[in-house]
Amino acid sequence: MHEKNRIIEIFDTTLRDGEQTPGISFTAEQKRTIARQLDALGVDIIEAGTPITSKEEKEVVQLICDEGLSAKICGLARILTQDIDACVDCGVDMIHIFVPSSAIQREHTTKMSEAQVKEQAYKMTRYVKERGFMCMFSAMDATRTRLEFLIDLYKTAEEAGADILNVPDTVGVSEPFAMYELVGEIYRAVKVPISIHCHNDFGLAVANSLAAVKAGASEVQVSVNGIGERAGNADLVETVMSLNSIYGLKTNIKTERLFEMAKLIERLTGIPIPVTKPVVGENAFSHESGIHTHGVMVRSDTFEPGIMTPEMVGHRRRIVLGKHTGKHSVAKKLSEIGMSPSKEELEEILERIKELGASGKRVTDDDLFSIAEVVMGEIARHERIVELKELSVMTGNNLIPTASLKAVVRGKECTSAQMGLGPVDAALKAIQQVIGGEIDGDIELKDFRIEAITGGSDALAEVIVGVKKGDRMVTARGVREDIVMASVEAFINAVNRLMQR
Ligand code: KIV
Ligand code: ZN
Repeated sequence: MHEKNRIIEIFDTTLRDGEQTPGISFTAEQKRTIARQLDALGVDIIEAGTPITSKEEKEVVQLICDEGLSAKICGLARILTQDIDACVDCGVDMIHIFVPSSAIQREHTTKMSEAQVKEQAYKMTRYVKERGFMCMFSAMDATRTRLEFLIDLYKTAEEAGADILNVPDTVGVSEPFAMYELVGEIYRAVKVPISIHCHNDFGLAVANSLAAVKAGASEVQVSVNGIGERAGNADLVETVMSLNSIYGLKTNIKTERLFEMAKLIERLTGIPIPVTKPVVGENAFSHESGIHTHGVMVRSDTFEPGIMTPEMVGHRRRIVLGKHTGKHSVAKKLSEIGMSPSKEELEEILERIKELGASGKRVTDDDLFSIAEVVMGEIARHERIVELKELSVMTGNNLIPTASLKAVVRGKECTSAQMGLGPVDAALKAIQQVIGGEIDGDIELKDFRIEAITGGSDALAEVIVGVKKGDRMVTARGVREDIVMASVEAFINAVNRLMQR
């Protein structure tokens, strides 16, 4: 059961199971933002919440229903009329009813016998249909339910009019071969479509979902970044890209929006995406070692899947510098900004980068450019657009800190005196004023950090600044014993680099 061209439906439960993640609680406005973005991404169904849980939850589900999205909106309900009525009140398109079916859950939670479960499942499926709604029926803990009873229960729900049957691996204990067998059995026993809902307790949620699709499921239940109860649900991005690129199956997902979607959930949940996370992690398309970067520069699929590219998922490829860096990546990065070191210079630059990398530092592009500038004598060779000539600062407990400064900007001598909240603020204002008068476009100080390199009151101060002009931003540093001088030097270095590139 794996024909090409089958369209697999994506049922997203970020707002329902996802919000059940310990510590996660979205505001109504955040839920609306997520729903809109899920819709723009192309998910087929958004499970917006469980309306019976609270007045607020009900209002949010209603709010999402009123958005007029293309995706169907689904509400979750136990097999109880009041739960179903709460979904109806919200104006959902579809009601997802569920009942514990495994012996362990029945005996220790609902205290219902198999016969009672069957009877109530039948009645409540009928109830949903009679009220005129699409009905999804879930046998909760299906993977731990006695098979004969499970099949009987699904057939009962089908008979009562269920439009789709969901197979939850509620505690994530299945594995792909078992899942393939189980879904295959259900698939052969019923005619309505099958959905799969996997939890990730053993890290197998995506693999199990894929196995279910292979066995005949036509819908997968996923959440963005895999959030959900305990270890979470099958991750939307990983599931979609596996279906798309490995299985060659279609979904309605606009894959180029996946990265953006994952980043939104990262921001709203505060749960960082691990750097090594497939598809959307910072390192998913990053290369450091010489052999890999050289290969990727010649042809990206030498050391990437090829069937999935950063462009396909809205991510980007990065060549990272560190102790494994090879000379090809260094030469390429430098040539991109018009620097062509000689063979000896390149070797020297590479050696310094490896040294930095070996000390455990993440080597940034700016580190590379600074090293290259020093090694190649670029600072001397390049015309420096801004050069500091004089700087004096007055400060004290009865004085407003004031800085006066003389600098040469594009060959022209300029002066400025500025007051500030402190001496660094005054000096940076003065240099910004001098530069602003001579260079077109706003130059903005975006980032400012002071780090002491050595200990003691005579410590060297390293100042790192991020400076932005238009949509370009560079980071540069200044190192001096005097914090004010280090700050101005860092700012000037950044402006020079910004103007040279
Ligand atoms: O994991 C589960 O069993 C569920 C059901 C409500 C489908 O989330
Ligand atoms: Zn679940």
